[in-house]
Amino acid sequence: MVNRAAIVTGASSGIGLAIAKVLGEEGFAITMAARRPEKLEGAVDGLAAEGLEVHGVAASLGEESEIQKVVSAHRERYGRLDVLVNNAGVGFGASVGEIQTKHLDMQLAVNLRSIVLFYRECVPDLLTAAAEHSSALVVNTSSISGKFGQGWLSVYSATKHGVVGWTEAMNKELAPQGIKSTALCPAFVDTPMTDFAKQHVAAEEMIQPQDIAEAVRFLLKLSPACIVPEMMFVRPGDAL
Ligand SMILES: NC(=O)c1ccc[n+]([C@@H]2O[C@H](COP(=O)([O-])OP(=O)(O)OC[C@H]3O[C@@H](n4cnc5c(N)ncnc54)[C@H](OP(=O)(O)O)[C@@H]3O)[C@@H](O)[C@H]2O)c1
Repeated sequence: MVNRAAIVTGASSGIGLAIAKVLGEEGFAITMAARRPEKLEGAVDGLAAEGLEVHGVAASLGEESEIQKVVSAHRERYGRLDVLVNNAGVGFGASVGEIQTKHLDMQLAVNLRSIVLFYRECVPDLLTAAAEHSSALVVNTSSISGKFGQGWLSVYSATKHGVVGWTEAMNKELAPQGIKSTALCPAFVDTPMTDFAKQHVAAEEMIQPQDIAEAVRFLLKLSPACIVPEMMFVRPGDAL
């Protein structure tokens, strides 16, 4: 069995891929989960080529059975879980009168419901890790839209507020047993998700995925007594 292991969702690009790389560098064996198999395979191959212990599970995380598939594949391969990164997410912009039900349901399912189900499925393994070293960690990618509601991204904002509230509740429920949770709340990050905005905000003026990944490296180094419930990442001039 490996010494430390992690699951990272949405690990095929952007923030999730950068976090998976940092976890690999820190000695974790990693299950990388994301939706599209070919894209995920490229990301997994890239990290494996750097000598990191990774494997990929393609899964559509709006589905409960797919979440269970990821967790059992991880358990079978690595036999332990020390860090869970709930990072997969989707965003659809629309004015309130134009919200499409399928986009509403998808954002609720991927951004919020999947996080609840991942916790439920992973709690036994995280408790075992916490009993061993008192520092099991769950990182949930929210957004700056999870702190300040954004018009035309209202459903996305609501799901990301949900992630912050859920993280707070999990710290009340699980931190006394050694499972710490942190919500990451970034503004614009230079990933495929923000390609739509790059004609207005240059990629190099955005927060970098590595900035977020380094924050996770920092969380790994905290003593068991120290919890960081949330972290905001903003750009110079961002209105707060
Ligand atoms: N970029 C930003 O400015 C920003 C700011 C704040 C928060 N965030 C949050 O950061 C997280 C990561 O986003 P990113 O910016 O790194 O964008 P990204 O590069 O597009 O990554 C999104 C990841 O989520 C996966 N994913 C999406 N829907 C999925 C589904 N139904 N099932 C499984 N995996 C799914 C994607 O896989 P596929 O590509 O195969 O779908 C991809 O691996 C998201 O939760 C996002 O809301 C981003």
